[in-house]
Amino acid sequence: MPSVPQRYLHGPGPSPVPESVLAALALPCIGHMDPQFMRIMNEIREMLQQVFQTENEMTLPCSGTGSAGAEMLMDNLVEPGDICLIGINGVFGQRLTEKARRAGGTVHNLTAPWGQVFDQDEVVAAIDELKPNIVMLVHAETSTGALQPFDRLGDAVHRHGGLLLMDCVTSLGGLRVKIDQWGVDGAYSGTQKCLSCPPGLAPVTLSERAMHKLNHRKTTVNSWYLDLRLVGNYWTGIRAYHHTAPVNMNYALHEALRIILDEGLENRFARHQQAHESLKSELTNRGYTYASDPQNSLPMLNLVNVPTEIEDEAAIRRRLLEEHHLEIGSGLGDLAGKCWRIGLMGHGAREECVQRIVTALDAVVPQ
Ligand SMILES: Cc1ncc(COP(=O)(O)O)c(C=O)c1O
Repeated sequence: MPSVPQRYLHGPGPSPVPESVLAALALPCIGHMDPQFMRIMNEIREMLQQVFQTENEMTLPCSGTGSAGAEMLMDNLVEPGDICLIGINGVFGQRLTEKARRAGGTVHNLTAPWGQVFDQDEVVAAIDELKPNIVMLVHAETSTGALQPFDRLGDAVHRHGGLLLMDCVTSLGGLRVKIDQWGVDGAYSGTQKCLSCPPGLAPVTLSERAMHKLNHRKTTVNSWYLDLRLVGNYWTGIRAYHHTAPVNMNYALHEALRIILDEGLENRFARHQQAHESLKSELTNRGYTYASDPQNSLPMLNLVNVPTEIEDEAAIRRRLLEEHHLEIGSGLGDLAGKCWRIGLMGHGAREECVQRIVTALDAVVPQ
């Protein structure tokens, strides 16, 4: 077996994985067509529906990381020539733009400075002007720590016959994600953030409206692997073999979802908020400042300015890892070298973790 150190994961993901989720990975591998695995698949879908707060029939874990989930939505729901309105206020909006283009969409971007979010009235005005087929925003921008409000967009998108899509990779399991109530037609996440499961699956959900578009496409879906009508047949339909599901990863997701629902969604969201407030107060007492907009900051991803007296921020992160086994994230894109990204995700959103982070920072950051 490989030799693996114990780490305290407080970067932008992966997050700490509870023992029982790791134990689920080590359960006996059974066949992906075994009736017992089908039962587990059904239970996963039901639990995912609860976590996504949706009744969508097409709710399943896509095999692959969050990026595979993004491509599953784009490849299935964007038809060549579709007008796509995509928000860019960080790295992940840029990636979505690229994916929509590759799927044949004609992309128009809404832009906001990194760290800021889009005013929903402005998004609605842009939708009314452009009448896009697809509108897509990142709910929790992991590169900037910004939380995008989503609750007032659905009606505007739908009155022009479009679909509202959401990246909730970092928010699902740590913040309210109300797919049905907000009128979101397609969303994807990843297992390694607030679901506290290793990376490897991308929970995806599609509304009836999205399924109607998919079922009436004029062109075939470019990707065979991610074609939801084929994958859906395995997960929800006639159970036809499509690809070999990553069986043990699905056991792990099953256990991670069970833990979330046992805790209760609202309790879990409150726990993330408490951990964030505690970290923020510990850090601000020590003179650190936050780089994210205080009105719209994520609890699970703390964007902290690197103190100006530190010349080599990478050396600090290296010492945290080597001397304290603690991982925090660097800034991404425009924020590289300027910020640290401190994650309090899933099982890592606890007071004990907050204290571990500040103790390690105190030890390595010159006072
Ligand atoms: C907001 C967001 N979207 C998409 C992704 C891509 O997910 P993955 O790295 O699991 O492919 C990430 C990963 O950090 C993310 O934070």
